[in-house]
Amino acid sequence: MRTIPNSVVVGIGKGGSCKTTLATQLAGIWASEGKRILLADLDMQASATKVVGLDPVQHGAGRHLMDAVMYGDQLTTVNARDNLDLVVAGRHTKTLSNHLVTATAPQDAFALPFEKIMASGRYDRLVFDLPPSGSSRLADMAMQTGKYLLVPTSSGVDNIEGLRVLAGELDELDSDILLLGVVLMKISAAAPRKRAEARQEVSEILAGVADPFQTIIREAGAAYDDSRKAGLFLHEYAEWATTVSVTNQIRTGIKIPTNLADLAREFYELADEVDDRIALAEDLLQPRAS
Ligand SMILES: Nc1ncnc2c1ncn2[C@@H]1O[C@H](COP(=O)(O)OP(=O)(O)OP(=O)(O)O)[C@@H](O)[C@H]1O
Ligand SMILES: [Mg+2]
Repeated sequence: MRTIPNSVVVGIGKGGSCKTTLATQLAGIWASEGKRILLADLDMQASATKVVGLDPVQHGAGRHLMDAVMYGDQLTTVNARDNLDLVVAGRHTKTLSNHLVTATAPQDAFALPFEKIMASGRYDRLVFDLPPSGSSRLADMAMQTGKYLLVPTSSGVDNIEGLRVLAGELDELDSDILLLGVVLMKISAAAPRKRAEARQEVSEILAGVADPFQTIIREAGAAYDDSRKAGLFLHEYAEWATTVSVTNQIRTGIKIPTNLADLAREFYELADEVDDRIALAEDLLQPRAS
């Protein structure tokens, strides 16, 4: 199996479990901190493509990855910010996924273009945003190709059940991917007991597999939606918000959610935690000179 160094898969999880939110916000923060990031959108819905502000149709609608995997073309990436390029998804992403169902050696074919582009030294990290579990062959391919896995979950019964299934199946998956941890998302900051219970529950389910991250991303739907409407990452929107005085907010009718700064801070903290776990894993996996 071909595993790509410095690659992080954000996935496993039903629709709406915050895979795209997690993949895009982390990619955005890492890029702002100077890491050269390639974000690969593997969902035909092209959600990640849209979050970073690109129009999928204007940028090939998934044709770039399809042509690279199916015809051996060099993988075309699209610049979204300083240090952040995208592999854009769209309707052709579905064609590619269907092709991979019957292709011979599909994992080799999928991994090769990413292997080449990472070997070129253009990027420090590759982030895959996966479609909902079970909906696309590309999710299986990424799970077999990625080195590290990040799983978002919120605290509902269904989510926790899903995590139990994941913990049980991770061993059986045809994949060498290493679970970096589970990120608890969309849990109210005003419910400390619920937060503690959710963390405890996740710790128990994942015992021996991975620890949940310390950072919990708070429920802050309005702040998130406003950043999307502004076409900015949360950290960008939070930075912009610091330049708008209260007087100006009143005068212009722009209301900046009070929890925006906290939400942005949590993503920064999470990005640091993920960095630390990757560094630790790299260190542990390093062959030792004897
Ligand atoms: N901190 C937050 N608090 C509340 N809601 C949030 C927060 N962050 C994101 N959301 C909302 O949660 C939803 C998660 O969507 P997202 O696209 O990230 O999920 P997904 O797992 O990628 O879905 P899909 O499986 O369809 O790809 C979005 O509707 C978004 O508006
Ligand atoms: Mg998504």
